[in-house]
Amino acid sequence: APLAAPDISKCGKNPLTGFKAGAGTPDSDDCCPPDTTRIANFVFPKDDVFRVRPAAHLLSPSYIAKYNLAIKRMKELPGDDPRNFLQQAHIHCAYCNGAYTQSSSGFPDIEIQIHNSWLFFPFHRWYLYFYERILGSLIDDPTFALPFWNWDTPAGMTVPSYFNDPSSALFNTKRNQDNLTAVVDLGYNGKPSAISDVEKVSNNLAIMYRQVVTNATDRTLFFGGESRAGAEPVNGGGSVEQSPHVPVHRWMGDPREVNGEDLGNFYSAARDALFYCHHSNVDRMWSLWKTLKGNHTDLTDPDWLNASFVFYDEKKTLVRVYVKDCLLTSRLGYDYQRVDVPWLNSRP
Ligand code: C2O
Repeated sequence: APLAAPDISKCGKNPLTGFKAGAGTPDSDDCCPPDTTRIANFVFPKDDVFRVRPAAHLLSPSYIAKYNLAIKRMKELPGDDPRNFLQQAHIHCAYCNGAYTQSSSGFPDIEIQIHNSWLFFPFHRWYLYFYERILGSLIDDPTFALPFWNWDTPAGMTVPSYFNDPSSALFNTKRNQDNLTAVVDLGYNGKPSAISDVEKVSNNLAIMYRQVVTNATDRTLFFGGESRAGAEPVNGGGSVEQSPHVPVHRWMGDPREVNGEDLGNFYSAARDALFYCHHSNVDRMWSLWKTLKGNHTDLTDPDWLNASFVFYDEKKTLVRVYVKDCLLTSRLGYDYQRVDVPWLNSRP
């Protein structure tokens, strides 16, 4: 059976097991979004506005300003507002660190985990869909689209500079201070590499080709192993989830923190605004992969298509969504700015 959306009233004391004790170790129950009794069914957006997510390193100063303002307003919302910045981060924690169980599927002893399986791409797509619309509504700009950190092109391989401005709402202190202006290492495994920037760039392009083309020749390789109600994910995450998705998290997580906070750990990752910008590009890889020739179509297993999640929308209504409804970004009212994809020519 498909994973059913969690009953959020049963959000547990978050076990957060495996954490090293120390300053910044999460409280036992700081992972649960606010509860509600009403759940709405998802309806496709009907507005005539279409959102085009721009490459983060190409933003105009006015776009950077509105991005900053939207995040600032999100941070200023009351702490118990489900649209609040920290509440949005709790969603990630709740779906990844054991606060939600599969009780509504009849398995209260099994945790929900939306990583390491075919749930990875659709869960994060839905998450960003609502996040983006909340940001747009906070600045009364329905065209606002979440920038994507274009780490797959040479000019985009550093953290977008405005994330490093201490006066910006996009700033975060818990980042790896050695990497704030460095060329990203899309294969980062915990050890800083000693190679030159030029070599890093070409390694990165080769990694992109390997993970999106060579290692993703069929749907299972791309999306990852199955995850059904009543079981933990089987066979692990898809090619892009494993790399570069995870390496980028680890590369920006702060080694001064006990658990690699913020980006280097599930529970804290979404407390950094950069998370959403990173995931916007991860989501773009799903769209891109489907345009490449080969057997590049979405999965058809009913347990994938009918898996469901719940998210708060921009009106603070909890909405139930199904994987099958997120397969076409055009139906969700957004697309990605067209930019060069240099790694397609980087076959090793
Ligand atoms: Cu839900 Cu990048 O992780």
